[in-house]
Amino acid sequence: MESTPTQPRSTPATLSLLIRQIRSEASGINSFELVHPAGEPLPAVAAGAHIDLYLDGGVIRQYSLCNDPVERHRYVIAVLREDAGQGGSRLMHDNVRVRDIVSVSYPRNNFGLVPGAKKHILLAGGIGVTPLKAMAHYLESTGEDYALHYCAKSEEHAAFREEFAVQVAKGRVIFHFDGGNPRDGLDLVSLLESHVEGTHVYYCGPGGFMAACATATQHWPRELVHFEHFKAPVQAAPTISATVAVSAEISFLKIASSGALFAMSEDKSIVEVLAENGIDIETSCQSGLCGTCKTRYLEGEVDHRDYILSDEDHLEYLTACVSRPKGKLLVLDL
Ligand code: FES
Repeated sequence: MESTPTQPRSTPATLSLLIRQIRSEASGINSFELVHPAGEPLPAVAAGAHIDLYLDGGVIRQYSLCNDPVERHRYVIAVLREDAGQGGSRLMHDNVRVRDIVSVSYPRNNFGLVPGAKKHILLAGGIGVTPLKAMAHYLESTGEDYALHYCAKSEEHAAFREEFAVQVAKGRVIFHFDGGNPRDGLDLVSLLESHVEGTHVYYCGPGGFMAACATATQHWPRELVHFEHFKAPVQAAPTISATVAVSAEISFLKIASSGALFAMSEDKSIVEVLAENGIDIETSCQSGLCGTCKTRYLEGEVDHRDYILSDEDHLEYLTACVSRPKGKLLVLDL
């Protein structure tokens, strides 16, 4: 697949990388290999890292790196085409071609492996396998104890089957095909029934899979359970009484360094309110998934709406793209 190189969108602190290869990995899933155009080594990453890809029309999407993190000559991402999605995956499948130059962010990692764990249980639902595949490569090379359970609808829907063949033969990677009915797939409740000291669980997948993993691990100590959403879960709309109660009280943002006060409005995020007043907070996913907009607050209560920060983080930080003040005043450490 070849085309004329295209011009990257100019964005600060980004890398311009060449699409060297596009491969069909499974039904609806293509992998994209990105390399430095001059063959230079790429910034080092740890397993679980992701990059932002800047697509046409200002669209930004986050993709986990799924190749062995020891590789410095390439980043590999995999994209499931979602025709009913918001368009990012269609752009990737339909518009991005071999030899294109694309703008990507420097890698970030909110989903790293815990060093020194006795065992790692990796649970992948569909395309959520990507960060866990990088982890499996890393753990295989370090000889640490791990198991990757990869849940998919069928063999045709499971990506990287050839690449996983050796680990499958060793019993390290186990496929679970459910034919579209999760009840016929991996029994998460049995698998995670008891936790052994030093065993950590990591999971990533679509909403239903994330909810099932959360339920199956609810009796595990929080510090042993790690997950990454690749899409914000669907939230129930607030009830009318809740909406009225929230909007009855106007909240203000206060900037600690200047004392400036800005009124919040229900339909705007903290990022938007600050931007209107000349204060820019860097963002990426704008969905509470990546942590780019993480901001320290000094006073006030927060309605945390993100899927990335821990309970401990929430005591000090908020995600300005989705979270909201809860009371009358929220003081930001800006
Ligand atoms: S921009 Fe990603 S969490 Fe706010």
